[in-house]
Amino acid sequence: MGHNLLKGKKGIIFGALDENSIAWKTAERVHEEGGSFVLTNAPIAMRMGQINELAKKTNSEIIPADATNEEDLMNLVTKSKEILGGKLDFVLHSIGMSVNVRKGRLYTDEKYDFTTKGWDVSALSFHKVMQSLYKADAMNEWGSIVALTYMAAQRTFPDYNDMADNKAYLESVARSFGYFFGKEKKVRVNTISQSPTPTTAGQGVKGFDGFIAYAEKMSPLGNATALDCANYTISLFSDLSRKVTMQNLFHDGGFSMTGVSQEVIEKFTDQE
Ligand SMILES: NC(=O)c1ccc[n+]([C@@H]2O[C@H](COP(=O)([O-])OP(=O)(O)OC[C@H]3O[C@@H](n4cnc5c(N)ncnc54)[C@H](O)[C@@H]3O)[C@@H](O)[C@H]2O)c1
Repeated sequence: MGHNLLKGKKGIIFGALDENSIAWKTAERVHEEGGSFVLTNAPIAMRMGQINELAKKTNSEIIPADATNEEDLMNLVTKSKEILGGKLDFVLHSIGMSVNVRKGRLYTDEKYDFTTKGWDVSALSFHKVMQSLYKADAMNEWGSIVALTYMAAQRTFPDYNDMADNKAYLESVARSFGYFFGKEKKVRVNTISQSPTPTTAGQGVKGFDGFIAYAEKMSPLGNATALDCANYTISLFSDLSRKVTMQNLFHDGGFSMTGVSQEVIEKFTDQE
Protein backbone atom coordinates (compact mmCIF):
# COMPACT_ATOMS: atom_id res chain seq x y z
CA MET A 1 0.00 0.00 0.00
CA GLY A 2 1.36 3.41 -0.98
CA HIS A 3 1.53 6.61 1.05
CA ASN A 4 2.33 8.94 -1.85
CA LEU A 5 5.81 9.49 -0.42
CA LEU A 6 7.22 9.98 -3.93
CA LYS A 7 4.28 11.71 -5.56
CA GLY A 8 5.48 13.75 -8.55
CA LYS A 9 9.06 12.58 -8.22
CA LYS A 10 10.99 11.30 -11.26
CA GLY A 11 14.04 9.12 -11.55
CA ILE A 12 16.12 6.35 -13.08
CA ILE A 13 16.35 2.77 -11.77
CA PHE A 14 19.36 0.67 -12.78
CA GLY A 15 19.62 -3.10 -12.37
CA ALA A 16 16.19 -4.79 -12.50
CA LEU A 17 17.02 -8.18 -14.04
CA ASP A 18 14.19 -10.36 -12.77
CA GLU A 19 11.58 -10.32 -10.05
CA ASN A 20 14.15 -11.27 -7.40
CA SER A 21 16.30 -8.21 -8.12
CA ILE A 22 16.42 -5.56 -5.42
CA ALA A 23 15.92 -2.97 -8.19
CA TRP A 24 12.77 -4.79 -9.36
CA LYS A 25 11.19 -4.60 -5.90
CA THR A 26 12.27 -0.97 -5.62
CA ALA A 27 10.66 -0.10 -8.95
CA GLU A 28 7.39 -1.68 -7.83
CA ARG A 29 7.48 0.23 -4.53
CA VAL A 30 8.43 3.55 -6.15
CA HIS A 31 5.47 3.10 -8.50
CA GLU A 32 3.16 2.43 -5.55
CA GLU A 33 4.44 5.57 -3.84
CA GLY A 34 3.55 7.71 -6.86
CA GLY A 35 6.99 8.12 -8.43
CA SER A 36 7.69 7.75 -12.15
CA PHE A 37 10.91 6.49 -13.68
CA VAL A 38 12.90 5.12 -16.57
CA LEU A 39 14.18 1.56 -16.21
CA THR A 40 17.63 0.72 -17.48
CA ASN A 41 19.96 -2.24 -17.66
CA ALA A 42 22.87 -3.49 -19.78
CA PRO A 43 21.72 -4.38 -23.32
CA ILE A 44 22.71 -8.03 -22.77
CA ALA A 45 20.62 -8.26 -19.58
CA MET A 46 17.58 -6.97 -21.48
CA ARG A 47 17.68 -9.97 -23.77
CA MET A 48 17.72 -12.42 -20.89
CA GLY A 49 15.60 -10.48 -18.43
CA GLN A 50 11.92 -9.88 -17.99
CA ILE A 51 12.21 -6.11 -17.75
CA ASN A 52 9.38 -5.52 -20.26
CA GLU A 53 6.96 -7.05 -17.83
CA LEU A 54 8.10 -4.65 -15.10
CA ALA A 55 7.90 -1.67 -17.46
CA LYS A 56 4.32 -2.55 -18.35
CA LYS A 57 3.33 -3.02 -14.75
CA THR A 58 4.86 0.28 -13.63
CA ASN A 59 3.94 2.26 -16.71
CA SER A 60 7.57 3.10 -17.43
CA GLU A 61 9.91 3.19 -20.41
CA ILE A 62 13.16 1.27 -20.83
CA ILE A 63 16.42 2.72 -22.09
CA PRO A 64 19.30 0.23 -22.42
CA ALA A 65 22.66 1.45 -21.11
CA ASP A 66 25.89 -0.27 -20.23
CA ALA A 67 26.79 1.49 -16.97
CA THR A 68 30.49 1.39 -17.89
CA ASN A 69 29.87 3.30 -21.13
CA GLU A 70 29.86 7.11 -20.82
CA GLU A 71 28.03 7.64 -24.12
CA ASP A 72 25.27 5.24 -23.12
CA LEU A 73 24.94 7.02 -19.78
CA MET A 74 24.73 10.49 -21.29
CA ASN A 75 22.09 9.26 -23.76
CA LEU A 76 20.17 7.68 -20.85
CA VAL A 77 20.22 10.89 -18.81
CA THR A 78 19.18 13.11 -21.74
CA LYS A 79 16.37 10.80 -22.87
CA SER A 80 15.11 10.23 -19.32
CA LYS A 81 14.70 13.99 -18.84
CA GLU A 82 12.75 14.17 -22.10
CA ILE A 83 10.52 11.20 -21.27
CA LEU A 84 9.83 12.26 -17.70
CA GLY A 85 9.45 15.95 -18.60
CA GLY A 86 12.18 17.55 -16.47
CA LYS A 87 15.03 17.01 -14.08
CA LEU A 88 15.32 13.96 -11.84
CA ASP A 89 14.69 13.50 -8.12
CA PHE A 90 16.07 10.00 -7.51
CA VAL A 91 18.50 7.48 -8.99
CA LEU A 92 19.11 3.89 -7.88
CA HIS A 93 22.42 2.21 -8.79
CA SER A 94 21.78 -1.52 -8.23
CA ILE A 95 24.61 -3.05 -10.25
CA GLY A 96 27.23 -5.63 -9.41
CA MET A 97 29.23 -8.33 -11.16
CA SER A 98 32.63 -9.96 -10.60
CA VAL A 99 34.18 -11.85 -13.48
CA ASN A 100 36.61 -13.57 -11.06
CA VAL A 101 33.62 -14.87 -9.04
CA ARG A 102 31.84 -15.98 -12.19
CA LYS A 103 34.87 -17.85 -13.48
CA GLY A 104 35.63 -19.43 -10.10
CA ARG A 105 38.96 -17.60 -9.58
CA LEU A 106 39.92 -17.30 -5.92
CA TYR A 107 40.97 -13.98 -4.35
CA THR A 108 44.55 -15.26 -4.26
CA ASP A 109 44.45 -16.14 -7.97
CA GLU A 110 42.77 -13.15 -9.60
CA LYS A 111 43.00 -12.62 -13.32
CA TYR A 112 43.51 -8.88 -13.45
CA ASP A 113 41.61 -8.33 -16.69
CA PHE A 114 38.65 -9.85 -14.86
CA THR A 115 39.35 -7.70 -11.79
CA THR A 116 39.41 -4.52 -13.87
CA LYS A 117 36.18 -5.40 -15.66
CA GLY A 118 34.39 -6.23 -12.39
CA TRP A 119 35.61 -3.00 -10.80
CA ASP A 120 34.42 -0.97 -13.78
CA VAL A 121 30.95 -2.57 -13.68
CA SER A 122 30.48 -2.70 -9.91
CA ALA A 123 32.29 0.38 -8.60
CA LEU A 124 33.55 2.91 -11.16
CA SER A 125 30.14 2.79 -12.89
CA PHE A 126 28.73 4.62 -9.86
CA HIS A 127 31.15 7.49 -10.47
CA LYS A 128 30.30 7.42 -14.18
CA VAL A 129 26.56 7.55 -13.46
CA MET A 130 26.97 10.48 -11.08
CA GLN A 131 29.37 12.36 -13.35
CA SER A 132 26.86 12.05 -16.20
CA LEU A 133 24.08 13.39 -13.99
CA TYR A 134 26.30 16.16 -12.63
CA LYS A 135 27.56 17.36 -16.01
CA ALA A 136 24.06 17.34 -17.50
CA ASP A 137 22.78 19.20 -14.41
CA ALA A 138 20.09 16.53 -14.38
CA MET A 139 19.19 16.41 -10.68
CA ASN A 140 16.64 18.60 -8.92
CA GLU A 141 17.62 20.22 -5.62
CA TRP A 142 17.04 17.85 -2.69
CA GLY A 143 17.27 14.88 -5.03
CA SER A 144 18.64 11.57 -3.77
CA ILE A 145 21.08 9.05 -5.25
CA VAL A 146 21.43 5.58 -3.72
CA ALA A 147 23.76 2.65 -4.49
CA LEU A 148 23.71 -0.82 -2.95
CA THR A 149 26.66 -2.32 -1.15
CA TYR A 150 27.66 -5.13 1.20
CA MET A 151 29.46 -5.30 4.54
CA ALA A 152 32.43 -7.13 2.99
CA ALA A 153 33.69 -3.58 2.38
CA GLN A 154 34.44 -3.37 6.14
CA ARG A 155 34.93 -7.00 7.24
CA THR A 156 36.38 -9.99 5.47
CA PHE A 157 34.08 -12.54 3.87
CA PRO A 158 36.56 -14.72 1.94
CA ASP A 159 34.20 -15.94 -0.79
CA TYR A 160 32.99 -12.44 -1.60
CA ASN A 161 36.30 -12.19 -3.40
CA ASP A 162 37.18 -9.00 -5.31
CA MET A 163 33.62 -7.70 -4.84
CA ALA A 164 34.76 -6.69 -1.33
CA ASP A 165 37.30 -4.30 -2.83
CA ASN A 166 34.76 -3.06 -5.36
CA LYS A 167 32.27 -2.28 -2.59
CA ALA A 168 34.91 -0.40 -0.57
CA TYR A 169 35.59 1.74 -3.65
CA LEU A 170 31.87 2.24 -4.30
CA GLU A 171 31.30 3.47 -0.73
CA SER A 172 34.21 5.89 -1.04
CA VAL A 173 32.81 7.28 -4.31
CA ALA A 174 29.50 7.92 -2.52
CA ARG A 175 31.28 10.05 0.10
CA SER A 176 33.48 11.92 -2.37
CA PHE A 177 30.78 12.66 -4.94
CA GLY A 178 28.33 13.29 -2.11
CA TYR A 179 30.44 16.27 -1.07
CA PHE A 180 30.30 17.91 -4.51
CA PHE A 181 26.67 17.00 -5.16
CA GLY A 182 25.72 18.39 -1.75
CA LYS A 183 27.65 21.64 -2.09
CA GLU A 184 26.79 22.44 -5.67
CA LYS A 185 23.35 20.94 -6.20
CA LYS A 186 21.87 20.10 -2.77
CA VAL A 187 21.63 16.44 -3.76
CA ARG A 188 22.27 13.60 -1.32
CA VAL A 189 24.30 10.48 -2.05
CA ASN A 190 24.23 7.36 0.13
CA THR A 191 24.94 3.64 0.01
CA ILE A 192 22.74 0.99 1.62
CA SER A 193 24.64 -1.98 2.99
CA GLN A 194 22.13 -4.77 2.53
CA SER A 195 21.82 -8.27 4.09
CA PRO A 196 22.59 -11.26 1.84
CA THR A 197 19.59 -11.55 -0.48
CA PRO A 198 18.67 -14.43 -2.81
CA THR A 199 19.07 -12.78 -6.24
CA THR A 200 21.06 -13.70 -9.33
CA ALA A 201 24.06 -11.62 -8.16
CA GLY A 202 23.78 -12.84 -4.55
CA GLN A 203 23.53 -16.51 -5.42
CA GLY A 204 26.62 -16.22 -7.59
CA VAL A 205 28.72 -16.01 -4.41
CA LYS A 206 30.20 -19.39 -3.40
CA GLY A 207 28.57 -20.91 -0.30
CA PHE A 208 25.67 -18.44 -0.48
CA ASP A 209 23.17 -20.76 1.24
CA GLY A 210 25.37 -21.19 4.31
CA PHE A 211 26.19 -17.53 4.26
CA ILE A 212 22.56 -16.34 4.25
CA ALA A 213 21.53 -18.89 6.92
CA TYR A 214 24.38 -17.74 9.19
CA ALA A 215 23.42 -14.07 8.71
CA GLU A 216 19.81 -14.92 9.56
CA LYS A 217 20.90 -16.47 12.88
CA MET A 218 23.25 -13.57 13.63
CA SER A 219 20.72 -10.78 13.00
CA PRO A 220 18.38 -9.94 15.92
CA LEU A 221 15.71 -8.86 13.43
CA GLY A 222 16.55 -11.50 10.83
CA ASN A 223 17.90 -10.75 7.35
CA ALA A 224 16.47 -7.79 5.46
CA THR A 225 14.67 -8.98 2.32
CA ALA A 226 14.72 -7.33 -1.11
CA LEU A 227 11.33 -5.80 -0.32
CA ASP A 228 12.66 -4.44 3.00
CA CYS A 229 15.53 -2.89 1.04
CA ALA A 230 13.09 -1.35 -1.43
CA ASN A 231 11.16 0.21 1.44
CA TYR A 232 14.31 1.63 3.01
CA THR A 233 15.31 3.07 -0.36
CA ILE A 234 11.90 4.77 -0.62
CA SER A 235 12.62 6.53 2.68
CA LEU A 236 15.93 7.78 1.27
CA PHE A 237 14.26 8.98 -1.94
CA SER A 238 11.53 10.76 0.02
CA ASP A 239 11.63 14.25 1.49
CA LEU A 240 11.81 12.72 4.99
CA SER A 241 15.59 12.17 4.83
CA ARG A 242 16.80 15.40 3.22
CA LYS A 243 19.86 15.91 5.39
CA VAL A 244 21.16 12.35 5.24
CA THR A 245 24.12 12.24 2.88
CA MET A 246 27.58 10.67 2.35
CA GLN A 247 26.57 7.76 4.58
CA ASN A 248 26.95 4.04 4.33
CA LEU A 249 23.72 2.85 5.96
CA PHE A 250 23.57 -0.69 7.30
CA HIS A 251 20.29 -2.37 6.50
CA ASP A 252 20.86 -5.83 7.87
CA GLY A 253 18.57 -6.61 10.82
CA GLY A 254 21.40 -5.73 13.22
CA PHE A 255 23.98 -8.20 11.82
CA SER A 256 26.80 -5.65 11.59
CA MET A 257 26.60 -4.81 15.30
CA THR A 258 26.12 -8.35 16.64
CA GLY A 259 29.17 -10.11 18.10
CA VAL A 260 27.46 -13.43 18.62
CA SER A 261 23.88 -14.67 18.98
CA GLN A 262 22.35 -17.31 21.22
CA GLU A 263 21.63 -19.53 18.21
CA VAL A 264 25.26 -19.46 17.11
CA ILE A 265 26.49 -20.17 20.66
CA GLU A 266 24.17 -23.19 20.80
CA LYS A 267 25.63 -24.55 17.55
CA PHE A 268 29.05 -24.64 19.18
CA THR A 269 27.98 -25.95 22.60
CA ASP A 270 27.97 -29.71 23.35
CA GLN A 271 24.37 -30.82 23.76
CA GLU A 272 24.76 -33.59 26.35
N1 LIG B 1 22.05 -10.08 -3.27
C1 LIG B 1 22.80 -9.80 -2.24
O1 LIG B 1 23.07 -10.64 -1.37
C2 LIG B 1 23.30 -8.39 -2.06
C3 LIG B 1 23.72 -7.95 -0.79
C4 LIG B 1 24.22 -6.65 -0.66
C5 LIG B 1 24.30 -5.83 -1.79
N2 LIG B 1 23.88 -6.29 -3.01
C6 LIG B 1 24.00 -5.40 -4.17
O2 LIG B 1 22.73 -5.11 -4.68
C7 LIG B 1 22.87 -4.70 -6.05
C8 LIG B 1 21.83 -5.39 -6.90
O3 LIG B 1 22.06 -6.76 -6.98
P1 LIG B 1 20.93 -7.87 -6.83
O4 LIG B 1 21.28 -8.68 -5.64
O5 LIG B 1 19.58 -7.27 -6.94
O6 LIG B 1 21.23 -8.84 -8.07
P2 LIG B 1 20.77 -8.81 -9.62
O7 LIG B 1 21.64 -9.83 -10.28
O8 LIG B 1 19.33 -8.96 -9.74
O9 LIG B 1 21.19 -7.33 -10.11
C9 LIG B 1 22.48 -6.98 -10.59
C10 LIG B 1 22.24 -6.13 -11.83
O10 LIG B 1 23.46 -5.56 -12.35
C11 LIG B 1 23.22 -5.44 -13.75
N3 LIG B 1 24.45 -5.18 -14.50
C12 LIG B 1 25.54 -6.00 -14.62
N4 LIG B 1 26.44 -5.44 -15.46
C13 LIG B 1 25.91 -4.24 -15.85
C14 LIG B 1 26.38 -3.21 -16.70
N5 LIG B 1 27.57 -3.28 -17.34
N6 LIG B 1 25.59 -2.12 -16.90
C15 LIG B 1 24.38 -2.03 -16.28
N7 LIG B 1 23.89 -2.98 -15.45
C16 LIG B 1 24.66 -4.07 -15.26
C17 LIG B 1 22.61 -6.81 -14.08
O11 LIG B 1 22.07 -6.86 -15.38
C18 LIG B 1 21.61 -6.93 -12.97
O12 LIG B 1 20.37 -6.35 -13.35
C19 LIG B 1 24.32 -5.00 -6.42
O13 LIG B 1 25.10 -3.84 -6.29
C20 LIG B 1 24.72 -6.01 -5.37
O14 LIG B 1 26.12 -6.08 -5.17
C21 LIG B 1 23.37 -7.54 -3.16
